[in-house]
Amino acid sequence: MRAPTTVLLTGATGYIASHTWLALLEAGFDVVGVDNFSNSSPEVLTRLHALSGRAPTFVEADVCDPAAMEAVFQRHRVAAAVHFAAFKAVGESAEKPLAYYANNVGGLLTLCEAMTRHQVHALVFSSSATVYGKPKELPIREDAPLSSTNPYGATKLIGENILRDLANADPAWNMALLRYFNPVGAHESGDIGEDPRGVPNNLMPYITQVAVGQRARLQVFGNDYDTPDGTGVRDYIHVVDLAEGHVAALRYLLDRQQSITANLGTGQGHSVLELIRAFEQASGRRIDYDIVPRRPGDVDASYADPTLAHELLNWRATRDLQAMCADSWRWQSKNPNGYQTLQTMNAPS
Ligand code: WQD
Repeated sequence: MRAPTTVLLTGATGYIASHTWLALLEAGFDVVGVDNFSNSSPEVLTRLHALSGRAPTFVEADVCDPAAMEAVFQRHRVAAAVHFAAFKAVGESAEKPLAYYANNVGGLLTLCEAMTRHQVHALVFSSSATVYGKPKELPIREDAPLSSTNPYGATKLIGENILRDLANADPAWNMALLRYFNPVGAHESGDIGEDPRGVPNNLMPYITQVAVGQRARLQVFGNDYDTPDGTGVRDYIHVVDLAEGHVAALRYLLDRQQSITANLGTGQGHSVLELIRAFEQASGRRIDYDIVPRRPGDVDASYADPTLAHELLNWRATRDLQAMCADSWRWQSKNPNGYQTLQTMNAPS
């Protein structure tokens, strides 16, 4: 009986990583999680323990800390890594570019240097559809032109370029560059989900916070786009579909010993107003909103051509918009304050 393959997750208690952690365990992998809780809660570990029935193997560390990452590789026989750890707020990245470059690019370099020292050459990289900038053609294929319109997007593009150069320099490396479209939804239990700090930047968590009474009204950023109802169109993908896409990509790297760049999306676009209506149906809650001016940097429409992932990863998103909304609502209604439990809320700050 071969020992299970151990996979290192950075940013492990984050939204997409925590769902990927569960999917990896269910697929028979062992997982070592690393996070510094700069944008997530230790409560996630308690939830993962309850959901998986296994005590998580976790190290609190900053992926930018070479000594801490060296210790992780010395302690654990890691066969592959999935790199989620990064700051991801587009607007914030324009205000704090240095912090974004130091954390997002520096963290990737520190991880790759530790992997090199320990002859670990299989890496899944959390990239983003934001590397396509303003798409020229829809749906978006992986060979579409790449550009960045904000420092966050630039860090993802630079990350991809670093990994392409590394794979070209050393054929021992196999990389999966996964370009996420718009992750939404939550695990069916409603016990883990998206818990942004402060005012949510993204549409779905803002909607769920309106639905649960944390916010009064949604602002719809513009209804004069070149789309059927004038509001922005995006490719919303269920976070559990996305997590399963990471398992498929890891299997591809470990079994095929080849690299891949792939869109992880449904291939279908939905407008802001469509998402509002779908959420109201799924939750039974009304979402009050106002149409306000466009948000700078937003594109009219963005949705994936997911053919490559279907064909090479044997993966396909299966959960529809109704499921995305129902699962997001179950998480938020069970956790009105996100992971802030009564204990943490009453704990001295
Ligand atoms: C979706 C639509 C908005 C909020 C960004 C990043 C991307 C990824 C996902 C990290 C747009 C509209 C939004 C609101 C609104 N992040 N909107 N009111 O901008 O497509 O993608 O988040 O990996 O890299 O670029 O997602 O959810 O912010 O916006 O009307 O309060 O909802 O204009 O049309 P976006 P989003």
